[in-house]
Amino acid sequence: MGKMWEGRFSKALDQTADDFNSSISFDSKMFRQDIKGSMAHAAMLGAKEIISLEDANTIIGALQGILEDIEKGALNIDMTCEDIHMFVEAELTKRIGDTGKRLHTARSRNDQVALDIRMYLRDETNKVIEMLKDTVEAIIEQAQKNKDAILPGYTHLQRAQPITFGHHLMAYAMMLLRDISRLKDALKRMNLSPLGSCALAGTTYNTDRNFTAQILGFDGITANSIDGVSDRDFCVELASAFSLIMMHLSRFSEEIILWSSWEFKFIELDDSFTTGSSIMPQKKNSDMAELVRGKTGRVYGDLITLLTMLKGLPLAYNKDMQEDKEAIFDSVETVQKCLEVFAPMVRTFTTLKDNMYKAAQKGFINATDLADYMVKKGLPFRSAYKTVGQIVAYCIENNKVLDTMTIEEYKKYSELFEDDLYNEISLETCVSKRISEGGTSVESVEKQIKLALESLKND
Ligand code: ARG
Repeated sequence: MGKMWEGRFSKALDQTADDFNSSISFDSKMFRQDIKGSMAHAAMLGAKEIISLEDANTIIGALQGILEDIEKGALNIDMTCEDIHMFVEAELTKRIGDTGKRLHTARSRNDQVALDIRMYLRDETNKVIEMLKDTVEAIIEQAQKNKDAILPGYTHLQRAQPITFGHHLMAYAMMLLRDISRLKDALKRMNLSPLGSCALAGTTYNTDRNFTAQILGFDGITANSIDGVSDRDFCVELASAFSLIMMHLSRFSEEIILWSSWEFKFIELDDSFTTGSSIMPQKKNSDMAELVRGKTGRVYGDLITLLTMLKGLPLAYNKDMQEDKEAIFDSVETVQKCLEVFAPMVRTFTTLKDNMYKAAQKGFINATDLADYMVKKGLPFRSAYKTVGQIVAYCIENNKVLDTMTIEEYKKYSELFEDDLYNEISLETCVSKRISEGGTSVESVEKQIKLALESLKND
């Protein structure tokens, strides 16, 4: 395909250089945004009498035809074009001749590409937000079903204190709600139109940037044309928000993998979200969760690609910036693919509450509550802590747990111990008494679910 700029050159571009330079293999997915942006630009040129209204309408009609033809498969994008912007303009000129050549008045590919990416990412980010909401709903459904299931809560992966499974799950709901709010915040800065910045300096034509911004659904326009064409902060912000989403999904995946193992067996993943082994007939592997965990690195990589690509660039546009697309597209697509499988995987797992409960009965996870029992009877916490430590050591030596020590054994350590201690240290009491806000009791978890549901509704 001949080049738009061929007037200045005496030799054609070397084939390998042409291939190297080309971005159409990955920017063609922005064809809708590119065509819609061009339609708005043509409408503005017509309205401001920069080109005739008749020409503007011819251009808009032809662009609409190109869009429809691509969508219904009647027009293939020519992959020998340098990029999607060149393809659309060339096709337009093919269809309406010289009138098509008027479209690029008061515009450059620099503001055009900046516009297209913002529009593309705006749509994709809104999809991610919907998928995150669905995932939060799946988590809430499981939290509802398991709000009174008792299991050990861990610190250092050592059994720490008894908690409810609903409580544990709602921790992930809170993370994903923060992710939603982060994306919405990034959208605010992203949703400003750079169109009309032109190559970098603005234009001598009497354009109306707000006109195009409004047609294209932007909240306003970027304030400095040099920044308008050089800014890719919104890509970095998104890639960073996507990295956090992946980090959350990855931590959750790690737990899902552990919980599904025979060592824990707290949950059973649905057969439709697990795989078998080619050699070991007994295996049921949590591949989806493992892949989500694995793909996290790739999304972090995309973030670093973007930051590094931008760090040494002088203003304004530099071709390095063409590298933004593969990174940010990969990042958003990976997050979408992960969420697509993650929500139903969470929604369909079943819980093995007995196994959770049995695990909670081991490991002295009610030791804090035994210390608190002594504190309520007047002992300073540090002294109580020490006594309970000695009791735990005794239990380990004698193969007992706190609940199976006799009252006579307890009395050897302190006269404060009485029969009511057994009720105080039962797992049910340990959990139901933790009614502090955000705590593990069923009552507190119900409040957390209510808050999460409200947040989903308001967003
Ligand atoms: N394909 C280019 C990109 O993605 C479009 C902008 C080209 N502008 C230029 N001055 N070469 O960045």
